[in-house]
This record gives sequence, C-alpha cells and structure tokens, in this order.
Amino acid sequence: MREVTAVILENKQIAEEVYELTFCTEQSVPVLPGQFCMIGVGGMPLRRPIAVCKAEGERITVCYRLKGEGTHRLASEYKAGETLRVLLPLGNGFSLAKEQKRIAVVGGGVGIFPLISAIRTFRDKEIYAYMGFRNRGAVCMEYEMLRAKKLTIATDDGSVGYHGTAVQAFQEEMSRIKPQAVLACGPTPMLRALKQAVAGKGIPVYVSLEERMGCGIGACLVCTCQKTDGARARVCKDGPVFEINEVEI
Ligand SMILES: Cc1cc2nc3c(=O)[nH]c(=O)nc-3n(C[C@H](O)[C@H](O)[C@H](O)COP(=O)(O)OP(=O)(O)OC[C@H]3O[C@@H](n4cnc5c(N)ncnc54)[C@H](O)[C@@H]3O)c2cc1C
Ligand code: FES
Repeated sequence: MREVTAVILENKQIAEEVYELTFCTEQSVPVLPGQFCMIGVGGMPLRRPIAVCKAEGERITVCYRLKGEGTHRLASEYKAGETLRVLLPLGNGFSLAKEQKRIAVVGGGVGIFPLISAIRTFRDKEIYAYMGFRNRGAVCMEYEMLRAKKLTIATDDGSVGYHGTAVQAFQEEMSRIKPQAVLACGPTPMLRALKQAVAGKGIPVYVSLEERMGCGIGACLVCTCQKTDGARARVCKDGPVFEINEVEI
C-alpha cells in the first residue's frame, strides 16, 4: 500500500449519477481484482473507499455513484489535470484456484465495479456475468462486461435485459452453467438472496463487502463485521472479500 499523488486524466458522467474517474500515478501500481483505494477529497478528514475498476500500469480507473458530500464534490470540483491524494492498493481482493474454471460473477449497484476488474483479470476463466441495475439509465461499463463469455444485464423495472435481479437471473441458469465459484458484490439484500440461492450446493462464493470506513488500512476498527465463528474482522484489511459462509450477512 502506498499514498500517491494522482493526476486526473478524466472525470466524466457515464450513467445516471455515476461517474468514471481515470487518474495516473507516478509509478505503476499492481492491483488485484476486488482491491480498492481511499480517495482524499478536498480538505475532508476521511478518505472515501472506492473499488478499482481498471488498473493498467500507472493508469487507474474507478467508477463512483453520487451519494453524499464526498462523491458530489469529487464529481463537481475535480477536472482533468488536477490532483488527488490516493491510498492504494487496499484489501485482499478476489483470488481463484487454477481448477476453478467456470465462474459466475453476480453484481448489483456499485458492486458491479470491482467485478469488472475481476472480468478483466481472470481472462483464462469461463465467466458468466449477471449484472443488476435499477433501470436502463443506470446501465454502464457494458463494453467491459462483454469480455465475459456470457453477459446478462438485469434491471429491476425490465427496461433492458432480464426483468428482475441479478441473483434471480443467475439462479435460473445456475444448474446449467455449473459454476465452480461465484464472485459477488452488491447491496446486503442481494448478498442474502445469493446466500440462499447457493445454500447446500457446495459452490464457494466470494463476496466483497461494503462497510463504512475510517482509515482503510486496518487501524481504526470502524469497518469491522461479524464472522460466523464469533470473531470480528476488519473489512478493509481482512477483506473486503470473504467466503460467504465466513461472515454474517
Ligand atoms: C471496499 C469498498 C468499495 C467501494 N467501492 C465503490 C465503488 O466502486 N463505487 C461507488 O460508487 N461506491 C463504492 N463504495 C461506497 C463508497 O465508499 C461510498 O458511497 C462513499 O464513501 C460515500 O461517500 P460520500 O461522502 O459521498 O457520502 P456520505 O454518506 O456523506 O459519507 C459519509 C461517510 O460515510 C462513508 N460511507 C458512506 N456510505 C458508504 C458506503 N456505502 N460504504 C463505505 N463507506 C461509506 C463515507 O466514506 C464517509 O466517510 C465502496 C465502499 C467500500 C467499503
Ligand atoms: S477502516 Fe479503519 S480499520 Fe477498517
């Protein structure tokens, strides 16, 4: 992990309330899929955790949805040529064994962004992607998701693709594609539905969790989650990726 001065190359809107930010670091930073960065916005005391979507040497891309003050200021105040202080790479990231070849990727909301990094990285795998959005206007980064062997876009209102959630779309095809692992990220209700869908099937499911964070480096304990063995884990340092049965969701 290091703190870098990032020079913004582009910060543009790509969907309703979603922005794609590309910046350049001084040196190439190796980033695993599922790892994230902490972006310092203005003089705000806490950096914002955002998943790395694409890492190409010194060029890093993240996508963020407007939420509160930090993300609104990031969208409105930061233009190409300006700088940001960024901590990266953070967290453990997704990893897959050699024998895990057929992989289902299930994402919803801002959870699709770390999964794009997984689709880009695990090129030797057969990837079936199920990506959920609110509606047509929220769909973005389709050209990246199309790297998967098969892509299913799901929308809550059916305005494009499958009418329903990404988990429902996955569940309909699960027995046919027989995934050897599932990678997932999304809101808690989505992860709960996924946990139910795979219960008793013996498929390892690796989920990336989203918790409020303070430091992002394991020091403040703001981000802890409950593990099923009774212990607590720091999402920023021990995660954000956990096997789904390892944590209380
Ligand atoms: C590992 C990880 C990866 C993430 N990746 C992405 C991503 O790729 N794209 C994206 O749009 N969002 C992502 N998020 C969520 C993102 O961090 C929050 O939306 C963002 O911090 C909100 O900041 P804000 O100032 O706009 O909102 P505010 O609500 O004003 O934030 C107040 C404080 O709460 C924290 N906070 C608020 N919501 C969240 C949240 N959902 N998760 C964590 N901290 C939160 C903020 O960091 C800040 O410290 C990720 C979160 C985590 C933990
Ligand atoms: S955010 Fe500080 S320990 Fe995780």
